[in-house]
Amino acid sequence: MTRLQQRLGSQSFTVLLVLLFSTINWVIGASPKEDFCRRFEHQSTVIDDKLYIDGGTVNYKDFPSSHENHDNTWLGYHDLNDLVSIKGELWPNFKLGLSKNNSIPTVSGGVLWPDSVNKRFYLYGGEHMSGFPKRSYRILSYDILNDQWDDFGEPDTSPAPEIAGFGAGVGVSETGMGYYYGGWVSNKSMNGWSRDKTMSSNFYSYSYDTRKFDRMISPDDQPRAEGGMVWIPAGDTSGVLVYMGGLVSPYDNGTTAPQPLDEIFVYDAQDNRWAKQKAVGEIPQHRRRFCVDAAWAPDKSSFNIYLWGGHSIYPPVTNVTSYSDIYVLTLPSFQWVKAFPGTSGNATLTENGKYGSSCNMVKNMSQFIVIGGNYTDSPTDKCDDEWWGAHNLWTGTFQNAGNNNDKWWALFNSDVDTNVVPKIVYDVVGGTKDGGATVKQPKNGYDSGNTLLSMLMTRTASPPQRTPTREVSTPSPGTGGSSKLGTGAIAGIVVGCAVALGIIAFAWWRVGKVVVRRRDERRQREMEQYAQRRVQQQAQEQAHLNPHQSFYENSTVGTVSPNAPSTQWAAPGSHNGSGGLRPQLEPSELPAYNQGIGILNNKPPRSPPGHPLL
Ligand SMILES: *[C@@H]1O[C@H](CO)[C@@H](O)[C@H](O)[C@H]1NC(C)=O
Ligand SMILES: *[C@@H]1O[C@H](CO)[C@@H](O)[C@H](O)[C@H]1NC(C)=O
Ligand SMILES: *[C@@H]1O[C@H](CO)[C@@H](O)[C@H](O)[C@H]1NC(C)=O
Ligand SMILES: *[C@@H]1O[C@H](CO)[C@@H](O)[C@H](O)[C@H]1NC(C)=O
Ligand SMILES: *[C@@H]1O[C@H](CO)[C@@H](O)[C@H](O)[C@H]1NC(C)=O
Ligand SMILES: *[C@@H]1O[C@H](CO)[C@@H](O)[C@H](O)[C@H]1NC(C)=O
Ligand SMILES: *[C@@H]1O[C@H](CO)[C@@H](O)[C@H](O)[C@H]1NC(C)=O
Repeated sequence: MTRLQQRLGSQSFTVLLVLLFSTINWVIGASPKEDFCRRFEHQSTVIDDKLYIDGGTVNYKDFPSSHENHDNTWLGYHDLNDLVSIKGELWPNFKLGLSKNNSIPTVSGGVLWPDSVNKRFYLYGGEHMSGFPKRSYRILSYDILNDQWDDFGEPDTSPAPEIAGFGAGVGVSETGMGYYYGGWVSNKSMNGWSRDKTMSSNFYSYSYDTRKFDRMISPDDQPRAEGGMVWIPAGDTSGVLVYMGGLVSPYDNGTTAPQPLDEIFVYDAQDNRWAKQKAVGEIPQHRRRFCVDAAWAPDKSSFNIYLWGGHSIYPPVTNVTSYSDIYVLTLPSFQWVKAFPGTSGNATLTENGKYGSSCNMVKNMSQFIVIGGNYTDSPTDKCDDEWWGAHNLWTGTFQNAGNNNDKWWALFNSDVDTNVVPKIVYDVVGGTKDGGATVKQPKNGYDSGNTLLSMLMTRTASPPQRTPTREVSTPSPGTGGSSKLGTGAIAGIVVGCAVALGIIAFAWWRVGKVVVRRRDERRQREMEQYAQRRVQQQAQEQAHLNPHQSFYENSTVGTVSPNAPSTQWAAPGSHNGSGGLRPQLEPSELPAYNQGIGILNNKPPRSPPGHPLL
């Protein structure tokens, strides 16, 4: 009898422990903030000084020993106006907790198309890392003001688009358009794809305001993937897109080759046509999965596209697998200049090369923030965790002095929001840091047949101010998801505690009047280990769920949307054994960066030590 009661009691206690551990686990979670090691192949975009990061892979602090990759199911952002001190240096705080549940797919190699006018962004393309898309692609958009995702249905184009990952995407708030070119189409990127993984030559556009999705003309019929694309306000009202690099499949037989970076593709977004133009100068080595973004002179006399990193492509053989350099392609003179490292020629840094990073111009193009990337050269398993994998480059060199200081990487400054042309650019295009470029065409002239391009590139675009299509007058500071979500999390904790208390009461009732004997330490350890195992099991089962959502489900409170289970895109239980959250209890401080870093040239040491980019 007593024994039975004890057993019941201990079972209840086990249940209680499991619940408490789950509660702690869901509330605290293995978080890409507290437990961050590095991230890559995510999507990012900037709206109102918030740099949003979605999807991709995240590694937690145990990565150097566990080598576990996790899907980054969280939607988070760096708040560029809220700097926190980390080891005495200020950095934009990283915030988690924006709404994103498992009805929204978690992908790698897609794009976030920003609409800063309507305070939302769209998630397009990308590959599921674990599992497969379970339904046709739908245009999903994160509404910043209401911290919720809106479903705008399937693209209204026929035939349905072939959804790809690792193509080149760019979204343009100024014109209200999203674009995606090329990429890999597979059963990981779209539902219903039964053929082998195939590189795509398709080019799609989406109009935010009309919701019209279109397949546009492609530059040619050669499939391409893993390149980069930006928008610049050159040409007519809608501006132009500039595409470069990555892989091309030139022979129609699946064999891929490097797309050389001296061949630049320009799309006239006004008149829906493409041109190719040869670029000269310090041509970057072949690469893929690099990232790019553009800044232009205040007078738009030069448009400067900053390129970071990327994975090398054979041929030729290079002495690194990934690059850690910065090149700038300046238009309309179509010249490449190398910014970092400051050595001339193709010399590469042999450490800290990364691919799968994201790049965003911030603060009116004054600074360029690189986030994440996968290291490929030894040691490949180090963390990039000083500032959650983020690094800041000054587009006009340190403090945007625009002079001959050659310091590019330095701490972010939220007060600077004017940009200048860097000296390396105005040295080749003329003018000053404020613009006034005098070289307005390619050194060797436009390629034959590029008469239209030559005319286009003499013009600058000033798209008319878009008007919001919904009420956005609420002052945006403070109306983002964080405060709301804070409320959600608090509600979660409160409900969790209430449930836990209920269980405690229940447990006591079950135990009845029997004196709860002291359990010896061995038994307690066993139970805790059991509870831990259960928690880990549950975590594995729910690796795709967000902490707060899972928590609600565990607590059996909150209503689950009727269509939620059937609208999951990720296959449950398809985590390839790597999806589980690891046990908690890690210290939450960011560990010291302890990798020794070689410095290739004799530039002043970058600080803090080991920072790849400072
Ligand atoms: C998941 O998110 C979608 C979109 O924001 C929402 O409609 C749905 O109710 C959410 N489901 C759950 C279970 O919270
Ligand atoms: C996805 O495609 C791969 C390669 O074509 C194939 O081996 C695999 O069985 C497919 N899986 C599903 C679920 O369709
Ligand atoms: C594809 O064609 C190219 C050029 O003809 C050839 O070099 C390559 O080996 C071919 N690849 C395959 C898989 O047949
Ligand atoms: C630099 O790289 C380009 C492209 O890979 C190559 O054509 C060129 O020969 C290289 N230059 C040197 C000096 O290695
Ligand atoms: C290869 O790496 C060394 C440094 O280890 C560097 O001096 C050399 O320039 C590199 N070669 C190229 C082509 O980058
Ligand atoms: C990251 O890079 C390493 C080294 O090249 C590679 O082994 C690993 O597979 C990459 N990770 C992913 C998830 O692709
Ligand atoms: C952006 O910078 C330019 C000069 O670099 C300045 O003229 C312009 O006013 C700035 N715009 C904003 C919105 O701060």
